[in-house]
Amino acid sequence: MTQDELKLAVAKAAIAYVPNDCIVGVGTGSTANFFIDELGKIKHKIRGAVASSEASAKRLQGHGIEVISLNDAGELPVYVDGADEITRNMHMTKGGGGALTREKIVAAASKKFICLCDASKLVDVLGKFPLPVEVIPMARSYVARELVRLGGQPQLRTGFTTDNGNLILDVHGLSILNPVELETAINHLPGVVTNGLFARRPADVLLLGTAEGVQTLT
Ligand code: A5P
Repeated sequence: MTQDELKLAVAKAAIAYVPNDCIVGVGTGSTANFFIDELGKIKHKIRGAVASSEASAKRLQGHGIEVISLNDAGELPVYVDGADEITRNMHMTKGGGGALTREKIVAAASKKFICLCDASKLVDVLGKFPLPVEVIPMARSYVARELVRLGGQPQLRTGFTTDNGNLILDVHGLSILNPVELETAINHLPGVVTNGLFARRPADVLLLGTAEGVQTLT
């Protein structure tokens, strides 16, 4: 099976987690795009969606799904998104697409996080995928120095601005043995908006696309 076929399989499986007549939290990225396309097929069953990026909002609207502001939506029953890496205890690295801050906000406002991944993203230790950190532009250099002190090698994502008008530092060379502590430590640096570790709010369900079918991990 190709990676796209695995992504499609998990996206289809995620539809079972969408309650009737609800507002769905929707992630960002190529896997989330497959989910949005599946959501389009059941759009008459939902009230709308809260998007975690401008790109996802556009795709949802392209399917005729109403995009609702999080401020008007209240608590969401479910948030569905991909990840760049995930461990068996559901800690994730996200933000490869640069939407980490809005993803973290929508995930925090949702009762359940359903994570969609192909099997290649399941790891024992996070860190091989560079950890994205969203920073306010004036803090870029200061935050980069602090990230070096934490053991990483930050690289500015060139030519990229987030939906919030900020920059991304991708931190290489980390072996993240304490994701909860590292998430907190990085987020405490002045100038950091948030980082791509989702450990304080891990996924509730992982739908893992494998050659043998979709596995459900909780
Ligand atoms: C977007 O900012 C990311 O968090 C994505 O959810 C994550 O990178 C997974 O993306 P893919 O589904 O494209 O691999």
